[in-house]
Amino acid sequence: MTILQIRTPKIFKPLLQGGLRYLGAWGGRGSGKSHFFGEKIVEECLAVPGTRVVCVREVQKSLKESAYRLIADKIRLMGVADQFRVLNDRIETPGGGLIIFQGMQDHTAESIKSLEGFRIAWVEEAQTMSSRSLEMLRPTIRSPGSQIWFSWNPRNRLDAVDQFLRHENGAPAGAAVIKVNFSDNPWFPKELEAERELDYAMRPDRYGHIWLGDYEPQAVGAIWHMRDINDNRIKDIPDDLERILVAIDPAVSSEEHSDWHGIVVVGLSSSNVGYVLEDGSTKGTPQKWAQRAIALMDKWDADGIVIEKNQGGDMCRAVLESQRHGLNIIEVHSTRGKHLRAEPIAAVYALGRVQHVGVWSQLESQMCQFTASGYEGDGSPDRVDALVHGLTELFPAITSRSSTARAQQDTAIMDYNPFGYEEDRGRQYEAVME
Ligand SMILES: Nc1ncnc2c1ncn2[C@@H]1O[C@H](COP(=O)(O)OP(=O)(O)OP(=O)(O)O)[C@@H](O)[C@H]1O
Ligand SMILES: [Mg+2]
Repeated sequence: MTILQIRTPKIFKPLLQGGLRYLGAWGGRGSGKSHFFGEKIVEECLAVPGTRVVCVREVQKSLKESAYRLIADKIRLMGVADQFRVLNDRIETPGGGLIIFQGMQDHTAESIKSLEGFRIAWVEEAQTMSSRSLEMLRPTIRSPGSQIWFSWNPRNRLDAVDQFLRHENGAPAGAAVIKVNFSDNPWFPKELEAERELDYAMRPDRYGHIWLGDYEPQAVGAIWHMRDINDNRIKDIPDDLERILVAIDPAVSSEEHSDWHGIVVVGLSSSNVGYVLEDGSTKGTPQKWAQRAIALMDKWDADGIVIEKNQGGDMCRAVLESQRHGLNIIEVHSTRGKHLRAEPIAAVYALGRVQHVGVWSQLESQMCQFTASGYEGDGSPDRVDALVHGLTELFPAITSRSSTARAQQDTAIMDYNPFGYEEDRGRQYEAVME
């Protein structure tokens, strides 16, 4: 019997337990996901003679796109080449087993049955796997003790693999799912480190997605566009701010203290331009968010703290007042749904009338996951909620007075143009003066 020593980053340990049905590893580029699974395939083939493995991806136009080369290299580097036969399009493994490479798109409900005897299916780049493919694959891999492995760089919360293994109600039974990033990879090459640093400096809006495993910053149908945020970004704090507000959206219902409380500082200049000055969102107890909000108020010499009346407004007020008496607490009323409140604010962004001072990646990524039909990001959009409260108070004309009309309309049309601008940036605006 061959004794293998495989040096493995600690982070992968949960995937090495026995008795699992699904293994999942997701995260940013260069985190060692492919290498881990490649080595594990070689290990499994040696440990269980006759093992059949299929490496699948959604689309595989040629073998070059598959893990064929990686596994062939691993076999050689692990010093077990004498026990495998690397053929043109597949690899023969000890005891009459086999490793093959296939695209799910090439399969039909009938042809997929050819995989029934396989013990391991590894889905590489699983973010691209369709729900149809996942649905076909799962009941196909059915031999005793069989497993399905997934490695992926997440794109969207609604992608099939994310819905399956990272569902908000938890992973399915028999699944071990880990998050892994470059910082977990002891062999992270210097070439990739240079790329990472470049993205960190040049593409802060994309950095979280590429390197940290965050979802794509821009959801399809998002009401904010990263382009609008980027185009209007400035470095220095303007010196003609007339009003500064700290807006908060505490996670009031949270029993645990794991939820984020949205706290955003916004300002309005004498020329009616809105500014996002700071995202000071925090986790923790009510005292903690109240203290943070008050600290930001002092730091920015703000005029008031904005809270939402409907969502536990009384509680927010009480918590704030328990920390400091005499605060100017402003309550915004919102009878409409979240996206209906956010849309007019997004429209003001599209007009270039809101500028971000600096980069607020987490807030901006939430904004760009906010679609007309709901929030597509992870968890709840607490930072955006706080932002919307604050800007709603700063731009009252566009939001409050026309609320009845908008509620009836339920469309994405902005019904008041506060600046008298007629700018066409791919959206339609209607000016309804009141
Ligand atoms: N077990 C390992 N042995 C040797 N080198 C490794 C190992 N794991 C990772 N590396 C090095 O780290 C790099 C990134 O690893 P890998 O390609 O497995 O990452 P990944 O998470 O699949 O990334 P991507 O999302 O870009 O596909 C590899 O190109 C290799 O240089
Ligand atoms: Mg990979």
